[in-house]
Amino acid sequence: MNNGEFSIKSYVLRSGRTSRAQKRALDVLSGIYCLPFEEKILDFNAVFGNGNPITIEIGFGMGGALTEIAASHPDKNYIGIEVFRAGVGRALMNIENMRLANVRVIAHDAAAVLEKMIPDDSIEGFHIFFPDPWQKKRHKKRRLVKYPFTDTLASKLKPGGYVYMVSDCEDYCSFALLEFGKTQLLRNPYAGFAPSQEWRPVTKFEKRAASRGGVIKELFFVKA
Ligand SMILES: C[S@@+](CC[C@H](N)C(=O)[O-])C[C@H]1O[C@@H](n2cnc3c(N)ncnc32)[C@H](O)[C@@H]1O
Repeated sequence: MNNGEFSIKSYVLRSGRTSRAQKRALDVLSGIYCLPFEEKILDFNAVFGNGNPITIEIGFGMGGALTEIAASHPDKNYIGIEVFRAGVGRALMNIENMRLANVRVIAHDAAAVLEKMIPDDSIEGFHIFFPDPWQKKRHKKRRLVKYPFTDTLASKLKPGGYVYMVSDCEDYCSFALLEFGKTQLLRNPYAGFAPSQEWRPVTKFEKRAASRGGVIKELFFVKA
């Protein structure tokens, strides 16, 4: 991926209010749990002090799923990537309150983070829960999950690693199924959409979608 592709962002920075507690968390806890964006490949052993497998959640929102999954898998490490400041603040509070030693946060565009900081063939799994749907025709180019970003995800996975996407936007899910299908290194172990992974916690956006009668679809691809 070249730098030009980073110019079409998959997000617009939400101006959502940052609470005092979230601001405090950003001020006090960033130095402990955030990794600054750098054009330098990360050394996971140095970051976590162990060689446990790494999962990355892209666009974690308020971080509920990230911290819940990390808490129930202390033998694995998690990196959450999010650009929404209030969400990063909330996640830092959760990490501190839950005393999670296995989570780090990068508050930056995931496309740039993967390209510049994540080693190839190093990641056990990517979680992408309820990515911004960008439903209008003229906005679809902003969708995060699309080819060739699917190639980037695959290149960062270890052999046998997975990408797991969940969304209530039917059009996006059908689109993503085709886009993942263009990436030769990924295979779909299911004939189409995947069954729900029982370990996945319900996210804020999922609750909202369910309350509106939305249908949740799941996509699960594995690196060959
Ligand atoms: C619809 S929200 C879903 C949040 C959360 N996953 C959930 O289910 O509650 C999508 C999130 O992805 C984030 N996002 C979108 N593109 C991103 C990118 N390129 N890098 C980092 N975060 C991104 C947005 O800021 C937003 O918080």
